Amino acid sequence: MDTFVIEGGRRLSGTLRINGSKNAALPLLVAALLTDEPVTLRDVPDLADIRNMVRLLGELGCERIAAPDPSVLTLKVHDATQSHARYDIVCTMRASISALGPLLAKRGYAKVSMPGGCAIGERPVDLHLRGLRALGADITLSGGDIVARAPRGRLQGAKMFLGGQFGSTVLGTANVMSAATLAVGTTVIESAACEPEIVDLANLLNSMGARVTGAGSPRITIQGVDALRGADHTVIPDRIEAGTLMCAAAITNGDLVLENCPLDALMAAREVLSAAGVHIAELGHRVAADPMRVSCRVTCDRVLKPAEFTTQPHPGFPTDLQAQFMALLTLADGNSIITERVFPERFLHVAELSRMGARLLRQGATVVVQGVRQLVGAPVMASDLRASAGLVLAGMAAQGTTIVHRVYHLDRGYEKLEHRLCAVGARITRIDDKDLPAADA
Ligand code: EPZ
Repeated sequence: MDTFVIEGGRRLSGTLRINGSKNAALPLLVAALLTDEPVTLRDVPDLADIRNMVRLLGELGCERIAAPDPSVLTLKVHDATQSHARYDIVCTMRASISALGPLLAKRGYAKVSMPGGCAIGERPVDLHLRGLRALGADITLSGGDIVARAPRGRLQGAKMFLGGQFGSTVLGTANVMSAATLAVGTTVIESAACEPEIVDLANLLNSMGARVTGAGSPRITIQGVDALRGADHTVIPDRIEAGTLMCAAAITNGDLVLENCPLDALMAAREVLSAAGVHIAELGHRVAADPMRVSCRVTCDRVLKPAEFTTQPHPGFPTDLQAQFMALLTLADGNSIITERVFPERFLHVAELSRMGARLLRQGATVVVQGVRQLVGAPVMASDLRASAGLVLAGMAAQGTTIVHRVYHLDRGYEKLEHRLCAVGARITRIDDKDLPAADA
């Protein structure tokens, strides 16, 4: 298994480009199931989750048409008879649940293995099912699979409330919105997720001929159409990668320019960074520019200040940046308070950061971070994608060597992260843990 060996204490400086968003790209890829024509996506990151999704879509009869540029993916359905998303793929990637709505809407039938829990919590799919049932789907559970049928082959538009006890659902909204594009009549989703990834999906669906309005707000309206066509779409840049690299600049007291940065999607995170003494200056003039693709320079005060934040659905502070910001605030001069309201159990990084000298006190869904002057390198274990990113950040700031085990978690969401960080001054080596000295293995 791959491991990172990080020599801490090196200041980052230089320019990095933000890649296309993983979490936008996954449901965009699945939208290819909604049409018989080719769908081309540009700026798709080369990640394990993306490759798994392409494999799943292949099993569902949607083939990839070869293109010279690996970041361009063209998918086209050639066989609409296979509608089973099997357990062995779904268990590697929960986003496979996104196939349920499109399969059901286009083929009238879908069988998708029920995703289990994962390192960040239970992760139920009841809201996905509630939304699809509201569209008339008949849904049962059989042998661990969700089996869904559209009566007489076609879903029916409906008005529905899609909020749950933790707020809106991103992939649930994506699933129902995608399915409703081919339903008969009008669908209104109340308490829809407002994430930029939902807006990106609505934009792709509309360029395929769908009639979706209100995406980015809590009420999305979809007027069903009879068929969708192919499209060519560029994926939005990854706001979580951007936020992670902002923390990388700040935690190393560095100076990074981020290009293709979706600043408008990071307002809550910017507030916290600003409170902590991290400065983000937009480069160039905005008037005609796309606020989702700007260049900015990230620098910070020599001493970080403490800050408080609570994760919430967008436009609140993203749960996917909680671990990285916790790593950053371990070095602030004072006490910070972090509360997790999206996945209240998403704290596996707390114990690992503590191994590096962080002073963290968890009470339920809140962690008090008592800033320390210095983190100390240690062997640590990555537990999920964003926790791994937090550990890499901590390792870059720590004194001495940090060994991050199980970086396959990180590879699910960050393309060649170590190469990119090394290009701006970090010292990170990827090795197989078999090659570690016995004491560190
Ligand atoms: C998406 O997961 C992202 N994944 C997650 O990113 C992200 O953490 C999450 O949204 C929240 O922003 C992808 O886009 C592939 P939710 P999703 O449904 O859609 C509860 C990463 O690190 N809920 O918005 O599965 C749920 O338990 C990943 O890149 C229900 O109760 O998350 C949670 O508390 C990890 N019932 C809250 O809603 C449901 O049916 C929000 O989850 C669905 C969700």
